[in-house]
Amino acid sequence: MDELAKVLASEIAMKIKNAAASERKLSIALSGGSTPKLLFSVLAGLYSETIKWDDVHFYWGDERCVPPYDQESNYGEAKKILFDRINIPGKNIHRIMGENEPSAEAIRYSLEVRNGLDQKNGWPVFDLMTLGMGEDGHIASIFPGLEDLFNSDKICEVAVHPVSGQNRITITGKVINNSGRIIFLVSGKNKAGILSAIMGEDQSKLYPASLVKPTWGKISWYIDREAGGNLLE
Ligand code: 6PG
Repeated sequence: MDELAKVLASEIAMKIKNAAASERKLSIALSGGSTPKLLFSVLAGLYSETIKWDDVHFYWGDERCVPPYDQESNYGEAKKILFDRINIPGKNIHRIMGENEPSAEAIRYSLEVRNGLDQKNGWPVFDLMTLGMGEDGHIASIFPGLEDLFNSDKICEVAVHPVSGQNRITITGKVINNSGRIIFLVSGKNKAGILSAIMGEDQSKLYPASLVKPTWGKISWYIDREAGGNLLE
């Protein structure tokens, strides 16, 4: 995973440098969970001084409905590992306020996303949408059986984690698929099964991750050897 995080970090750094060279704002949606933590650490460790963060804006693909200091908070983890170690204006960090009432926050964040991003095809455009994937094939906080959230006409929806019952705020599929670049970062042996199900010939069972198809941009999968083991057979 270390090498994978370094390769992805260098691609993100290149995108940031190219945008900065043309003085263009770059909007990046971060994923949550544990996988991206190493990516954040590499970005902070290798690029804190060499990247001009002034025009980089960070958003989230989803957030747990907890306070920002809670260890479950996707924002809280990114702050500890990345934002506290780079020189980025506070206004560039667009966190989902997990402490707010969920349905009100879904509306508030939808407006923040719509007002902050360029539009294309009538939807906000993230230059870079980073996604992880759960062992059940979920992405952001769109879990199996909740595909109607993926197809929602809203920018954000309230979701509920099927096991813990935890409320989540999630960006929806029309926005995800409207990104300039979608990047999946998938690591670990525990993801090998779901990955081969999603990438395999038998597409009879669709998972939320199967629905991620860029409408005009590009998609890349960053997969380590453990997660990709079955694909090599
Ligand atoms: C979240 C994420 C979620 C995550 C997957 C994979 O808030 O948990 O956005 O979609 O990407 O659950 O999580 P891991 O990286 O911890 O396996």
